[in-house]
Amino acid sequence: MRDPRSLLLTGASSGIGEALALAYAGPGVSLALGGRDAPRLAAVAAACTQKGAQVRSDVIDVADRAAVARWIADVDAAQAVDLVIANAGIGAGTDEGHEDERQTRGIFGVNLDGVLNTVLPLIPRFVERQRGQIALMSSLASFRGFPGAPTYCGSKAAVRVWGEGLRGDLAPDGVEVSVICPGFVESRMTAKNKFPMPFLMTAERAAGIVKRGLAANRGRIAFPWPMYAATWFLAALPPGLTDRLLARFPRKQ
Ligand SMILES: NC(=O)c1ccc[n+]([C@@H]2O[C@H](COP(=O)([O-])OP(=O)(O)OC[C@H]3O[C@@H](n4cnc5c(N)ncnc54)[C@H](OP(=O)(O)O)[C@@H]3O)[C@@H](O)[C@H]2O)c1
Repeated sequence: MRDPRSLLLTGASSGIGEALALAYAGPGVSLALGGRDAPRLAAVAAACTQKGAQVRSDVIDVADRAAVARWIADVDAAQAVDLVIANAGIGAGTDEGHEDERQTRGIFGVNLDGVLNTVLPLIPRFVERQRGQIALMSSLASFRGFPGAPTYCGSKAAVRVWGEGLRGDLAPDGVEVSVICPGFVESRMTAKNKFPMPFLMTAERAAGIVKRGLAANRGRIAFPWPMYAATWFLAALPPGLTDRLLARFPRKQ
């Protein structure tokens, strides 16, 4: 969608979500911003208001399906949502040992269920209006399961593949779907990483790439291209050839 006027964005209190909120903020734009940390969310909302946007911000846990559904119904009733960006996510890995059930279910609960909670209530509304755009935050980590972060990779793979299928399914109804697959981007999430992050970019630069990709209705917005090429190549090789190499990769905290 070239010129979305009403956006709903989760994970707006930090990192890529914060940069996206600021990238879209401007006169004539309504933003519904979600996050968990109230002071950080309020600061982002204030900065977006300063840029001329109409802003509503709500402290909301994307894993809380009923609360998210109420929030979306309320926002959409006030002004029909043009673009939803399901961005909220958490990351953890196997740096301190195998992932336990709590970590595994916790990551899937936010990164997958949280995305479903954010997007599913809007699909029938978009279909009925024959208009709307859905952006799903995946990752380059979705292309191959890495021993350093099995659940994170699995959650992002589910989101990417679901979105790719949804795109073709909803296109005849005038609904656009894009999956976003960033490499390393500066944020609270990557600040914890103790290993080198090739082609690390600022959240502002990433938001610009995402915004341009969504305006062009690109199905897969994957960047930066050298990291995309490397992960794509790794994923294309048989596991027997890559397992030993990947076992030596650093583990996510
Ligand atoms: N940074 C990267 O290199 C990178 C690469 C690929 C994909 N991604 C994805 O990009 C997205 C944004 O991450 P980021 O790098 O910007 O990290 P970040 O700075 O940690 O931001 C994560 C955002 O998600 C929100 N969030 C987390 N759990 C939530 C929950 N249960 N309910 C509601 N909001 C929740 C956080 O809110 P609070 O802070 O208020 O809790 C925060 O606004 C994530 O989906 C991540 O997986 C990041």
